[in-house]
Amino acid sequence: MAEQYSKEQLMEQFLQIFGEGETPRVFFAPGRVNLIGEHTDYNGGHVFPCALTFGIYAAARLRKDNKLRFYSGNVARLGVLESSLDALEKTDNDSWTSYAKGVLWAIGERGITLPCGMELLIWGNIPNGAGLSSSAALEVVVGLAARELYGLSQLTMQDLALIGQKAENDFCGLSCGIMDQFASAMGKQDAAIFLDTNTLIYEYAPVKLPNAKVVITNSNVKHSLVGSAYNDRRRECEEALADIRDAMEKAGTAPDALPKSLGALSEEDFENWKHVIRNDICRARAKHAVYENQRTIRAVAALKKDDAAAFGALMNASHDSLRDDYEVSCPEVDTLVELARSVPGVIGSRITGGGFGGCTVSLVACDAIPAFEKTVGEGYQKATGLTADFYVVDMGQGAHEI
Ligand code: GLA
Repeated sequence: MAEQYSKEQLMEQFLQIFGEGETPRVFFAPGRVNLIGEHTDYNGGHVFPCALTFGIYAAARLRKDNKLRFYSGNVARLGVLESSLDALEKTDNDSWTSYAKGVLWAIGERGITLPCGMELLIWGNIPNGAGLSSSAALEVVVGLAARELYGLSQLTMQDLALIGQKAENDFCGLSCGIMDQFASAMGKQDAAIFLDTNTLIYEYAPVKLPNAKVVITNSNVKHSLVGSAYNDRRRECEEALADIRDAMEKAGTAPDALPKSLGALSEEDFENWKHVIRNDICRARAKHAVYENQRTIRAVAALKKDDAAAFGALMNASHDSLRDDYEVSCPEVDTLVELARSVPGVIGSRITGGGFGGCTVSLVACDAIPAFEKTVGEGYQKATGLTADFYVVDMGQGAHEI
């Protein structure tokens, strides 16, 4: 697991970088892994992520002027990056700071005027580019630091998740759903969050399978065009929904009874209406969105009955659909999943997160974990020449001050 810094070390580093003065406050927001419910969050469906114990730390204090001074311990070579509250715009050479600036901008979009700038030191131990939501953790930790330092007590943790999503959508240009920011802000130890992204009604479901663990496997590949392919998927789903709504309306359905999202459709609804979706690709994308939502609902019901086998079968079905209908997997990740499924004691395995590389999530019997790591690790190396990393998941608390 990635290295760890103590609060004192972060504070000390902060004072070295930004100079002596007021002691900074230190905050943490975790990364997340999604157990099931992939690419459903922008389709009004359900998701089932949990917060991890690794994430992003922020040490921060306010300034007297309007300057923003940002420093990341992960990209120390960039030094202190300076901008200003008066010019919160994304620029071409923005790096990680777009996420931080985007959050302050999104707070402003809520009609809140920030009275002064801030100094912010960031350090994270989420594996790089792994699809475990380092950007959401960054957005949430900056939002939390801002809330606490500026005294914005009107903002709830859910608001911070929504502010992070707005920053990502409208400042950074990825049309993501709410899952990642919600998990980072609202996570709870030893539980996953069963969230209806249509209503934001959620419930914590303890994940305490006596004989099995959730294991993340990092493929250590990240294919380019992630953002544009993601935005394409979203558009394809919207197009499919529009075709269904048009056809239903022509068939006499009252306007307020039309489905507002693919998540509002049952599998039966989809089967009845799929022929009206004109584009084959959009039809396949919509099928995934509808069926994945139903799988997620069933998976949580299975977990509540301690039925690990049923949960695992749904994870497997999720992967197959993401690979074949949604087309967000890649050969490396498919290899990881196939190897995982060949190991006795692996209950289910699938790609997790946005896709095009990143990680798999597997449910593995405790006594099979060593064989899992050996078979998958060696097989992956042999097939791809790459090294996989494994993390046995501890489900952690959502963002908080430390
Ligand atoms: C990314 C997005 C999320 C979600 C997942 C896919 O992580 O940020 O909103 O859409 O992909 O489930």
